[in-house]
Amino acid sequence: MKNLLKFAVLIIVALFLTTSRAYAVEPDHGDHKRHDQAAVTTANALIDEMRALDAAFRDIVSGVAVNDGHKVLLAIETLHGSMEKTRHALHAGEVKLSRNPHKMKEFEKFDKEFHGELEALARAAERDDRKVMASLTKKLLDGCVRCHGEFRK
Ligand code: HEC
Repeated sequence: MKNLLKFAVLIIVALFLTTSRAYAVEPDHGDHKRHDQAAVTTANALIDEMRALDAAFRDIVSGVAVNDGHKVLLAIETLHGSMEKTRHALHAGEVKLSRNPHKMKEFEKFDKEFHGELEALARAAERDDRKVMASLTKKLLDGCVRCHGEFRK
């Protein structure tokens, strides 16, 4: 009888552990979902780049908020290659700017400045430079808003 009781307690503890573990990994699932969504490609390289950038920028913001340079760096690394794909698609005429398509030169200037700041942020993240990371992240947000104001419908 005593043994049976011990067995029942063990079962209850085991059940508790597995369910609490399942809850503990829940936020991780959410994260993966977000990255998977960003990884889904469309026929439009610019939209693909923007979705990847959108997901990366969220991680950048939380990394900067808690001074986690490594997280910031990993987020930036997910973007490598997407800017080149967009440039190539724009030049090949596969992708058109939805607003002000005739202002390609200005778009390229915005894009170049933005990616230059992103590179600077990666360097600051490598040395865990909290102040520079924060000011560049604010600048980058201004960059999103400025470019959308001019080129997004
Ligand atoms: C150099 C220009 C430029 C910069 C910088 C830029 N974007 Fe964009 N973004 C665009 C354009 C253009 C579109 C519209 C594309 C379309 O609908 O054809 C767009 C669209 C988007 C979309 C909508 C995508 C969709 O599914 O329709 C999101 C989200 C987005 N950008 C996020 C960001 C974020 C976040 C940043 C900054 C961290 C940023 N963008 C910086 C040019 C830019």
